[in-house]
Amino acid sequence: MGPSPGVSGEPGGTWALVAAAGTGERLGIDRPKAFASLGGRPLVAESIERLDGCQWVDAIVVAAPAGWEEPTILLVEELAASKVVACVTGGATRAESVRAALAEVSDDAVVVLVHDAARPLVSDEIVERVLEPLAEGVEGVVPALRIADTVKRVDGRVVVETVDRASLVGAQTPQAFVADSLRRAYRGDLADATDCASLVERAGGTVMIVEGDPHLLKVTTSADLALVESWL
Ligand code: C5P
Repeated sequence: MGPSPGVSGEPGGTWALVAAAGTGERLGIDRPKAFASLGGRPLVAESIERLDGCQWVDAIVVAAPAGWEEPTILLVEELAASKVVACVTGGATRAESVRAALAEVSDDAVVVLVHDAARPLVSDEIVERVLEPLAEGVEGVVPALRIADTVKRVDGRVVVETVDRASLVGAQTPQAFVADSLRRAYRGDLADATDCASLVERAGGTVMIVEGDPHLLKVTTSADLALVESWL
């Protein structure tokens, strides 16, 4: 890969935000999802360690669950994750957590990656894949997977229509953005935004997809956690 925006050494470089402030109620444990045990350590450790070791990432901000800032900072110290420059308190929604983390990103940042702690198996390969198209002038890049199931729009339990799945994908993270485009998108209304790309799209930005990775499964249930653990 040739020089890409944010390769270490460029002013400001590439910042990675780790959204880790969700409650994870569906896991049914006594702590936030980011601190669920994955291979004997907190789930969020995996994303922090992998992004810290990634050559394309220059600095990291973690959005921690409210009340869990200190354990998050201790974890960062334990991992010796030297690229983590700030740990902020997350908000009531994912978008609010990302907004809080974005406020810590330096003005001269070139690229911002946003990643869900709930997708622990982030790899150098996928980071490289989402960064690459930014050099072609798009404002955002999303890893995405085609949908295998037939998709239906429903009203309660009644099927309203069957949607053409050929034009549908499932969006994952890490998502990569031109830093200024992401900042502009986050100045607007955050309502109903379940990912960052939707805000950039709403602000008129061009977002493209690259091939996602099935191993970037979002941990929601204990079965997901067991599956991801088996892939470690
Ligand atoms: O809730 P869901 O699994 O969709 O959350 C996706 C990611 O966003 C998770 O990594 C979660 O920790 C994060 N999140 C957050 N702040 C919230 C809600 C979710 O950082 N208020």
